[in-house]
Amino acid sequence: MQLLQTIPDLRAHRRSVEKPIALVPTMGALHKGHLTLIEEAKRLSDEVWVSIFVNPTQFGPKEDLSKYPRPLEDDLAACEELGVSAVFNPTPEQVYPPGVVETALDVPSLTAEFEGEQRPGHFAGVCRVVLKLFNLCQPRYACFGQKDYQQLIAIEAMALDLNLPIAIQRVATVREADGLAMSSRNRYLSEEDRKHAVGLYKALTLAKQMIEDDSETDTANIEQAMAQTLRAHRITPDYCAIRHPQTLCRMDIVRTPVVALIAGRLGGVRLLDNLII
Ligand code: PAJ
Repeated sequence: MQLLQTIPDLRAHRRSVEKPIALVPTMGALHKGHLTLIEEAKRLSDEVWVSIFVNPTQFGPKEDLSKYPRPLEDDLAACEELGVSAVFNPTPEQVYPPGVVETALDVPSLTAEFEGEQRPGHFAGVCRVVLKLFNLCQPRYACFGQKDYQQLIAIEAMALDLNLPIAIQRVATVREADGLAMSSRNRYLSEEDRKHAVGLYKALTLAKQMIEDDSETDTANIEQAMAQTLRAHRITPDYCAIRHPQTLCRMDIVRTPVVALIAGRLGGVRLLDNLII
């Protein structure tokens, strides 16, 4: 496995690779969700590259970038074990050299609400770093998790709009046995809160049940029932929404397919999840 930590090294190595590359962009602290993305990438190509970069431009001023976990040795061992061909792990100065002026990039119609509203500038940072990673690694495929639904559809939209020659591969959310979506934030939950955290998945499955058995067609009522489920699990809702899965447009009456988007706070930890119904 090649460990590439500078852009000149990455460029030089890239020139020597002829096979199509399947790229898995990550911020490291790899868990089973990330590893499933890597496995999916392996189905697409023998040449799997993983980027590990805690991207400063997607963190808000109140979000603690320095506290983001960086267990690089463990991450490299996990990549090696899965047969990853190359890991790109640059420094922030490599990716954002001082003195280079910034390009603004975003998909505003998909990022104005929800995570974009909670975290101003977040998706501009994500789009910018993902396009940089694409231009540097020049993959044929790139894998993203459905766990971060808005991120996934914003990147799909960017790839389509900017004619990027890259197939974006969606990977289903990997969950714990009780349904909690795997996330690097779960480690910050207390033992007690970890039990309540299942409330997000419970709220999503409740929405799914209401929609699939046709017991409720009014989105506002479904959204209210989702929020109630969160509160019953001591989770303070940030948003509970039923939207069009591609445009995120509102609808008064449910017409499937829809995406149910949910986020809330539990003991100081912000959790998010979603389900396509
Ligand atoms: P990170 O949070 O490290 O996530 C990397 C990838 O793993 C994303 O595509 C995310 O959706 C996926 N992922 C996380 N948890 C998952 C789960 N439980 N099941 C399936 N996939 C999961 O997302 C980012 O990093 C960054 O924003 C990045 C795209 C790397 C740009 O900096």
